[in-house]
Amino acid sequence: MKDNRFITLAFESSCDETAVAVVADGRQVLANVISSQIEIFKNYGGVVPEIAARHHLENINYVLDQALAEAGLTLDDVDLIGVTEGPGLVGALLIGVATAKAVAFARDLPLVGVHHIMGHIAANYIQFPALEPPFTALIVSGGHTNIADVDSYTTCRVLGSTRDDAVGEAYDKVARVLGLGYPGGPKIDALASEGDPQAVHFKRVYLEKDSYDFSFSGLKTAVLNHLNSARQKREEINRADIAASFQQAVLEVICDKAIKAAVELGYGKLVLAGGVAANSALRRELGARCAEKGLELFIPSPALCTDNGAMIACAAYYKYKEGKTADLYMDAHASLPFAEKK
Ligand code: KG4
Ligand code: ZN
Repeated sequence: MKDNRFITLAFESSCDETAVAVVADGRQVLANVISSQIEIFKNYGGVVPEIAARHHLENINYVLDQALAEAGLTLDDVDLIGVTEGPGLVGALLIGVATAKAVAFARDLPLVGVHHIMGHIAANYIQFPALEPPFTALIVSGGHTNIADVDSYTTCRVLGSTRDDAVGEAYDKVARVLGLGYPGGPKIDALASEGDPQAVHFKRVYLEKDSYDFSFSGLKTAVLNHLNSARQKREEINRADIAASFQQAVLEVICDKAIKAAVELGYGKLVLAGGVAANSALRRELGARCAEKGLELFIPSPALCTDNGAMIACAAYYKYKEGKTADLYMDAHASLPFAEKK
């Protein structure tokens, strides 16, 4: 007999994680299997798109089988197929999209394409069963940095975006410059906890007054210049101090802008999303600032912050409820706007 809950099966393959999840009634995770390629890309110092796509292709059927087995279900129980359609590495995305379309076609199931960022936001619905839009969201990942007014489960207005590097990208680049390896975010997070955040003053970039946009590429150059000048002067380099000082320069700006937006929008709720939401200093700093301003703060557990299938399943469920389904012509998109800028 078919499972009487509404079962969503979802695929996420936008970067270097092959992820398949089974979620009941939109928010209850029955399985969330992630096959990470991080070990492979440590040798390259970053993700190589063609290699990522090949690994997705090799792994996806096994990850699908494992997800269904962990959920204790079969394809007969599934009601909906969800998949990340973009943005991301197009070759990597195509593996998830092709697999999702094949299963939807073979089983005659509805198909929903999910914007990766809407997925990251939805990780919070899984973590906090009572959370509902509207709220202000700060999205910080390897590919994105946005402040958004999330006015419904399927729509939002972008208030600000990065004009160059994303926050996670800045972490990864600075980590490379410091010789910490890939992925840099968690390494800087750990090293920074041993350093002095006031040791080096890196410029805080706020852009125009009242702008919610960001710019982080200058910060990476500033770290590089600091290192080069210290080497030239034969000064001792304290990597923990540099990591902590870099992190402080990033966190101050993103926290200032996110809190300002949350106060201005007036929903009383700030939601953090994306891989960098796993950062311990960011979690602490936002926690303190939200408490000060009387804002309720939502942050997913670290495992739900980085790429996973459960967040895609949840976002797909809400799109499906609004009738926003795709057909078998759905394609993968390297870039995909998720909302109009205000
Ligand atoms: O959301 P995600 O898994 O992939 C994208 O959609 O981009 O985010 C990955 C990014 C990487 O840049 C990684 O270095 C960063 O999130 N990250 C962190 C931490 N954990 C992951 N950055 C800072 N601190 C962390 N603890
Ligand atoms: Zn992501």
